[in-house]
Amino acid sequence: MSRFALLPLLADGDFHSGQELADAMGVSRTAVWKQVNRLAEEAGIEIESAKGRGYRIPGGIDLLDADRVMDAMQVRPRSLLTRLDILDTVDSTNSEVLRWVEQGASSGLVCSAEQQTAGRGRRGRQWVSPYAGNLYLSLLWEFSQGAAALEGLSLAVGVAVARALRAFGISGVQLKWPNDVLYGGAKLGGILLEMSGDAAGSCRVVVGVGLNVSMPGSAAVAIDQAWTDVKTICGRQLPARNNLLAALLNELLPLMADFEQQGFARWRDEWLELDAFAGTPVVLHSGSGQSAGVARGVDERGALRLETASGVQSIYGGEISLRSAQ
Ligand code: BTN
Repeated sequence: MSRFALLPLLADGDFHSGQELADAMGVSRTAVWKQVNRLAEEAGIEIESAKGRGYRIPGGIDLLDADRVMDAMQVRPRSLLTRLDILDTVDSTNSEVLRWVEQGASSGLVCSAEQQTAGRGRRGRQWVSPYAGNLYLSLLWEFSQGAAALEGLSLAVGVAVARALRAFGISGVQLKWPNDVLYGGAKLGGILLEMSGDAAGSCRVVVGVGLNVSMPGSAAVAIDQAWTDVKTICGRQLPARNNLLAALLNELLPLMADFEQQGFARWRDEWLELDAFAGTPVVLHSGSGQSAGVARGVDERGALRLETASGVQSIYGGEISLRSAQ
């Protein structure tokens, strides 16, 4: 039995008696009660209990469902999807897909999960991944021309995320080089690309995207930077997570299928329009030190153009973080 088998039964927001839940799960009423407590403690999901009526989640809960996601997808992206796994809990969806790679998996596989226990961010940071609130997804694609052909891919993924959100009327998303998704200067999502294989030949890329949709306050205390979520942006018009996931896949799958041929050049203008730091004085922090200058967008390879007293230099990704100097 899944750790949270109770959740789908209570997802509708209606009251369900302890006996009804116990029967549906094939467990005792005491086991139901224990799971109710565990949901509050481990997943931060409050379940109301009322004498004579049973249990309910006020307002219901929007759980991920692979069929609903696929139903909401467009024809071409759907044809590029070879497998969609929606897990309950996983260490990291990127780690899960990398394990699939070891078993020979190839393009078009997608893994999403309700919760990550060891979600990874860039530069060794954790990605706060509470249960059933946000979106965590990883997508696998195989490229034949080696890592050089993938320059700018992570920036193009940022554009794809912004496009997906626009489909729900969320405009105003901005991108921070190399691949933070921002709204109003606060972090809305993050992108983590991991590669396996031959950097000069055939390689497989795992594209991990985390999107804050409805971040519980109890989980947010662990986030060490300004953050926001789709719920804060949309208020009552919060899109269903299944539809958001479908919209992300509608953008990401064709991007992956076409990127090797088209390269970043096709995405550059759109990236520049979304650039949060265009013309801003910035300081770039890297392992070896820091350099200050004015951010002048990105070049056709996705490198940051940093204007300093000695001219404009192109800065490639890696362990560099960019902070406004103001
Ligand atoms: C960052 O901004 O630091 C990147 C965050 C990437 C988070 C996503 S969530 C899905 C996938 N699985 C992970 O462990 N990380 C990425």
